Amino acid sequence: MDIITDTTAMLDPIDALKSDHEAVRVVLGNLDGYLRKIAGQISDSLRKNLIGQLNEITSFVDKDLEIHFKKEENVLFPVLGNYIGIETGPIHVMLLEHEQSRKLSKEFKDAIIEYSADGEYENIVSKGDGLIQLLSEHIEKEDNILFNMAEMQLTNEEKNEIMGKMRTIK
Ligand SMILES: [Fe+2]
Ligand SMILES: [Fe+2]
Repeated sequence: MDIITDTTAMLDPIDALKSDHEAVRVVLGNLDGYLRKIAGQISDSLRKNLIGQLNEITSFVDKDLEIHFKKEENVLFPVLGNYIGIETGPIHVMLLEHEQSRKLSKEFKDAIIEYSADGEYENIVSKGDGLIQLLSEHIEKEDNILFNMAEMQLTNEEKNEIMGKMRTIK
């Protein structure tokens, strides 16, 4: 599933990151659909089947979302940090949330593995719900707060440089 936008066609790095967020929202919506079915009154075999399909989501989180995080962590944040700081404030909070997301997604994957041993699916649902909530709020904050700061502060030269570097992250 390669639905993170091909940002090579875009010129503005903030537009490119926002369009990644749209892809993340779609995946989170799909995940919510899966989780509501898994938590519902269904047969064990159907539940097993649905849980098997979650690898589509986990591979998105492991690959595409990780690339998105790296674009922010390695390219945008260091430049924007020159204006608004990194150790405290919004960038600091965003970095903490990336770590929380990585931890939660590991726990989500562990819950999927444990399910195949003991058939307990509740943990998959609770970790998955946690991931949906964390990431929805995270991209909301970036879209509405951090990216506005970036639009106000960054020069066109800096934006071009950021866009160029983001293209090299795969
Ligand atoms: Fe982020
Ligand atoms: Fe983001």
